[in-house]
Amino acid sequence: MKYINDKTPKNIVTLLKISLTLLYFSSKPHYAVVNDTVEISKDFKKEKLVNAVLRNILRNTNKIKYEKNIYPNFKKVLDKIFSSKSIRDYIYETLFIKPKNYQISLIDNKDALYSKRVLILEKKINKKCFVQDIGNFEVINSIYKFYKDKNLIDVCAAPGGKSILLQSLGFNVFAIDKSQNQINKFEENLSRLNIKINIQKIDFLKKKFTDKFNSILLDAPCSALGTFRRNPDVTVKIDPSQIKKHQKTQIQMLEKSLKMLNNGGFLVYIVCSFHPFETIDVIDKIIQKHKNVKIHSIETDKMIKRQNGYFINPLSFKDIGGSDIFFVSVLEKI
Ligand SMILES: C[S@@+](CC[C@H](N)C(=O)[O-])C[C@H]1O[C@@H](n2cnc3c(N)ncnc32)[C@H](O)[C@@H]1O
Repeated sequence: MKYINDKTPKNIVTLLKISLTLLYFSSKPHYAVVNDTVEISKDFKKEKLVNAVLRNILRNTNKIKYEKNIYPNFKKVLDKIFSSKSIRDYIYETLFIKPKNYQISLIDNKDALYSKRVLILEKKINKKCFVQDIGNFEVINSIYKFYKDKNLIDVCAAPGGKSILLQSLGFNVFAIDKSQNQINKFEENLSRLNIKINIQKIDFLKKKFTDKFNSILLDAPCSALGTFRRNPDVTVKIDPSQIKKHQKTQIQMLEKSLKMLNNGGFLVYIVCSFHPFETIDVIDKIIQKHKNVKIHSIETDKMIKRQNGYFINPLSFKDIGGSDIFFVSVLEKI
């Protein structure tokens, strides 16, 4: 962007890039994008600069090389996964509008607005509840019945949303994660909820496991592109070479999980991304190489099937506040 220089604060550059993404991809009127961005920039006392830059951009829209300043594949990859016009219209009409915050109850709750467990988060979290996106809840809700053995290892577990939900559904979870920071958050959640889960600081890719398992959850590290509504900055900080790196790690983690799985055991792969590299392509590569893997169909009206996995349908929770996009695939070792 020639309108800014090296001295422009990083958060203002990110804000401007988010604004450019909206100008380029969303169906929101340009003046509204500019007004909203200027409003946010007041928090950083940079409203004059942001206003001047954006007005300048609008005067020169034909000359701006948007692709140079934003993630140009954002729309391309989204459109590849969501071919339905109504889904795309909804995504681009509501681009970067934050989904409502939800709280998930550890026990069935008569006031739940979805699936006996999901409640809207008002000002305070209820005592026996934890905060989670409804899409995050739904991926577990739709797959947990595949696991026949309730002793489950969650190999990328912190800060613990999925482990806690699984434990509340009757599982005995052994949780591992390599990040102490994330584990600290997990432990805070456990102590607030007054529940116990065995969580250990382990690098899953380095540790040699002697035991085998029947139930494995792999909620792998990823670009987090599927959280773009909640965290618009993921779309401007994305770097295609980083996505390739994620893919490599995701495949290594899947292969290690398969080694640790008993025949007849189930491995569930989840990422909060819609990028093909991290989702359908990963599963494709796994099943091409490992002929002893069977992919299972999920019974769901909240997700859309693409090749060997399912994506949360952004329209599913539209009327109760929206959701992030997750990908899930259920693998059985045969
Ligand atoms: C998507 S997050 C998991 C979120 C968690 N399952 C939940 O529902 O709250 C991915 C996690 O993988 C962890 N991670 C990344 N590489 C790892 C490795 N080699 N071994 C173990 N954990 C790893 C990260 O620290 C991060 O906490």
